[in-house]
Amino acid sequence: MSKFKYIDLFSGIGGFHQAMKNLGGECVLASEIDESAINTYMKNYGMNSAYDINDIKNDEIPDHNVLCAGFPCQAFSKAGKQMGFKDPTKGTLFFQIKRILISKQPEYIVLENVRNLLSHDHHNTWNVIADELDKVGYNIRAIIMSPHQLGIPQLRERVYILGIRKDIYDGELQFNVPDKKDKSALNAYEAAIFDELVDEKYYINEQEEAVLECWNEFYQGINLKIIGFPVWSYEFGATYPLEDYPAWKAEFCRKNRKLYEDNKEFIDGWLKKWNNLNDFIPTNRKFEWQAGTSINSIWDGYIQFRPSGIRVKRPDAFPALVAMVQIPVIGKYKRRLTPREAARLQSFPETFIPDENDFQAYKQFGNAVNVNCVEFLAKQLFQYGRMQVVDSENQIDF
Ligand SMILES: C[S@@+](CC[C@H](N)C(=O)[O-])C[C@H]1O[C@@H](n2cnc3c(N)ncnc32)[C@H](O)[C@@H]1O
Repeated sequence: MSKFKYIDLFSGIGGFHQAMKNLGGECVLASEIDESAINTYMKNYGMNSAYDINDIKNDEIPDHNVLCAGFPCQAFSKAGKQMGFKDPTKGTLFFQIKRILISKQPEYIVLENVRNLLSHDHHNTWNVIADELDKVGYNIRAIIMSPHQLGIPQLRERVYILGIRKDIYDGELQFNVPDKKDKSALNAYEAAIFDELVDEKYYINEQEEAVLECWNEFYQGINLKIIGFPVWSYEFGATYPLEDYPAWKAEFCRKNRKLYEDNKEFIDGWLKKWNNLNDFIPTNRKFEWQAGTSINSIWDGYIQFRPSGIRVKRPDAFPALVAMVQIPVIGKYKRRLTPREAARLQSFPETFIPDENDFQAYKQFGNAVNVNCVEFLAKQLFQYGRMQVVDSENQIDF
């Protein structure tokens, strides 16, 4: 059985690599410019990915059957208008994908992007991409999918663009995708994502615990359960004029002032107990309850220490990992998610070696494509055409 060959563009830490390897593929080129992602790629796959896509010439690209790319989303209209290009994609990274497709004509393409790609720049970005892929000879289908549809407890809608060269198949591409409304998989507590024993450094510190306890008392003490606006403690009792504020901000201030008036007795006592929150940094004096009525305690949700305040999410909606610094805190365990747990949410195998630097590791997992989503869709794509699933381990024969 010969392996099919693929290239991994904007390869990051190889979400596509994992998926294609699981399907029996062989990576013949990876391209990445971020130094720490390049190191992680080398450590895990023994492959050098340190090539800027802009510098790779067509004759340096090995023949391949599948082109994979999780490319950065950039607007075309501005580049086109400002620089007067006839080719609307020129000057963007999508252009690099296009020129490789023209030159190498692989049988399949598997691209991934944020969901917003479809509406970005008044739909112009997507229209240009779909049009250009069509012009260079590909029959494509865009599928929006999130790992929770495959039983992985992460809500992370992304668009997958699946394509096949038109001379191989030009009919409608259909994919069987589980219902996105079924969110039963989203309880990460039940999904064997969390480890029992983790390093002490992941636990929140005393100050963070005090901040959360303070806001927990607040939530449990007020008479409003679905808050629906950011709580800004410095607005409690404030009377200064709001005319100079933009309308949205003035509206939030008014809602905060009303919340205070409606709960004056409780909030006055709470503020006194917590020294008017003067011991907290400004971002910790703001609070965003996004858990509806699903829970009645912060400690039952997921929490993020964000610049916009303390955000609490429901326990059945693990926030999408994004290339982030606000690592989610698991309320029940009073600690942050570990890189290993982040790897599980992105369907990387237990054998995967994350970056030793936690900050880089979170960023890399946040940027990565979910392995199982790619595998799930690519397997269906490959059935159109010559690549067939030949055995129970999903290996694809070419
Ligand atoms: C959304 S991430 C893709 C992550 C990847 N699919 C994964 O599973 O880890 C986009 C990546 O494109 C890389 N990138 C940006 N410009 C590039 C270029 N000119 N050549 C190669 N890679 C580039 C970024 O460093 C970033 O890691």
